[in-house]
Amino acid sequence: KELVFSGVQPTGNLHLGNYLGAIRQFAALQNSYNCVYCVVDLHAITAKRQDPKELRHQIREVTAAFLATGIDPKNHIIFNQSQVPEHAELAWVFNCVARMGWLSRMTQFKDKAGKDRENASVGLFAYPSLMAADILVYRATHVPVGEDQKQHLELTRDIAQKFNNDWAEDIAAQGFGDMFFPLPEPLIQGTATRVMSLRDGSKKMSKSDPSDYSRINLTDDADAIATKIRKAKTDPEPLPSEAKGIETRPEAENLVSIYATLTDTSIDAVLKEFGGAQFSTFKSALADVAVNKLAPIASEMRRLMDDTAYIDQVLAEGSGKARVLATETMNGVKDIVGLLRNT
Ligand code: TYM
Repeated sequence: KELVFSGVQPTGNLHLGNYLGAIRQFAALQNSYNCVYCVVDLHAITAKRQDPKELRHQIREVTAAFLATGIDPKNHIIFNQSQVPEHAELAWVFNCVARMGWLSRMTQFKDKAGKDRENASVGLFAYPSLMAADILVYRATHVPVGEDQKQHLELTRDIAQKFNNDWAEDIAAQGFGDMFFPLPEPLIQGTATRVMSLRDGSKKMSKSDPSDYSRINLTDDADAIATKIRKAKTDPEPLPSEAKGIETRPEAENLVSIYATLTDTSIDAVLKEFGGAQFSTFKSALADVAVNKLAPIASEMRRLMDDTAYIDQVLAEGSGKARVLATETMNGVKDIVGLLRNT
């Protein structure tokens, strides 16, 4: 049985990278799969204390982004992680499956913890176990994400495989056959799987970059989008007319791939059209395309955020539906591992 799962952290500043790398795919996958999309609030508190009022706002805003980009909460599931306690419960079991060495190798942990590892939270270290639990508590088979989550998906497969191996006899004895968890596949799709900062083509666009000019936020208005694209860093040469060699010009490559993704064409097609043009010409075309795509999403998000009662109702219904699936998996895990449960 195929199922799509993905999650987005409510840590503020949802941006064009989140949209092109992941959220845009979420709605598209609804026609071919059953989909479960999650706001991962427990992940949002791993790096630092979040202001509680702000965190509640961000959880609702990510939910609004899911709705505004066309995810259908009736036929699919939209919910918030902490409202389904089985995520944290399965994460504990996975903390006992995953090895210290595996988690120590995660590049995201190394980046976020920086030099002062002694001071990183235990939650930041165990972050990938919780992410594996998010996915596997639904026994999801496909996970649409940006390039930066690839390593976490590999770890998720390692955890699933180790669980399946370590308890192989018990899995069979409980009637689950030879595999309890599937090994989920990452879906890293499109030409913008790693959108870079508008200020520095060697850094990825990120929610936490102190410069707001580094990213286009999903809530930016038309003026802000146009200004940020106009000020985006470029080099002095005109655009090339073919893709060969463009990787040596990371800022140009980034803007061209954003344009290609927003207009559903290829980098080659964009360069055929704009090859030889100055950046000023290309940037104003890009600003038009970006405003056309993003402004309706921003205005729908604003409309939804005016009535948080509706958003809270979507989350309540979603967590109810998610819990039915998650409880079934958790019951299986408890029976396999030998944890007693209420029947
Ligand atoms: P998060 O909240 O950082 O990002 C959400 C999604 O956006 C993608 N993304 C990008 N794609 C392209 N270019 C960029 N510059 C860019 N920045 C972010 C991310 O790859 C992600 O798909 N650990 C996850 C959240 C998570 C999750 C999960 C995802 C928790 N549990 C289970 C999938 C399945 C994260 O921090 O994403």
